[in-house]
Amino acid sequence: MERVSRLMDIIALHNLKGGVGKTATAVNLADQAARAGVPTLLWDLDAQAAATWCVGAAPGLARPPAKLFRRKSPIGRETVRTRQTYLDLLPADGSLRQLDDLIDKGKDGARLLDRLLQPFSENYGLVVLDCPPSFSRLADAVVRVATRVLCPLIPAPLSLNAWRQMVARFDRGRYGRDTLRPFLSMVDRRRGLHRRWSEAPPTSLRHCLRTGIPYSTDIEQMSVHRQPLAAFAPRATATEAYRRLWLELAGDIEIRP
Ligand SMILES: Nc1ncnc2c1ncn2[C@@H]1O[C@H](COP(=O)(O)OP(=O)(O)OP(=O)(O)O)[C@@H](O)[C@H]1O
Ligand SMILES: [Mg+2]
Repeated sequence: MERVSRLMDIIALHNLKGGVGKTATAVNLADQAARAGVPTLLWDLDAQAAATWCVGAAPGLARPPAKLFRRKSPIGRETVRTRQTYLDLLPADGSLRQLDDLIDKGKDGARLLDRLLQPFSENYGLVVLDCPPSFSRLADAVVRVATRVLCPLIPAPLSLNAWRQMVARFDRGRYGRDTLRPFLSMVDRRRGLHRRWSEAPPTSLRHCLRTGIPYSTDIEQMSVHRQPLAAFAPRATATEAYRRLWLELAGDIEIRP
């Protein structure tokens, strides 16, 4: 089987911990890629539907999810346009639980997800997956199909525990460990530890991306405006940080417009 990630880049936002900036990053990274001219699909894999909300769309899939997941109905028809050119969304749906159940019942999750993603490679150069917090079979599958798994970490000792657990899980699984990349999230430079980690991350984070995302109230405003940051705060420091994060990744994995 030819992995779909050979045809299209797949960036997943994943962390065992909740509330660390996965969704904010998924939305803004996808938006930055689209603004750079890369046809991009943002797939909201979290039933909380926060990414769906933040691009101004309604949650819910039109067709019965069991059919979609068994590929009896094309999942490609479920995508919706966003206000940003080149940025489409596959909205969240409460039925995502069924995808987890299917995988629990012994399906090879990575194979299933890979097949679901396959048709998108005709229309998109990049898929960004916004994952729910915690480990699940779905998360395992995501990690195995993604080109890059980005893990936002708030500078704090406890974040390192979560990071070590994720690395241990990657090591146990059949995953390419190189795909897992941490980056600093919600960085508040008034705080000593945040400054120190920004200048020199702890050795266990040696694969850390260079770009960190600052703590910013502009990011919190996304849920009010229901748009990515660049649409309502184009000159904000945080917008620039997401742009740099995008450029760093695009250079790293050679995403083609
Ligand atoms: N860099 C930031 N600065 C300030 N607030 C932020 C930042 N990133 C995210 N937030 C806010 O923190 C909250 C959690 O962010 P977000 O939803 O992106 O986290 P998450 O990891 O996706 O959470 P969950 O695990 O629940 O899916 C949101 O209210 C968001 O607006
Ligand atoms: Mg989220």
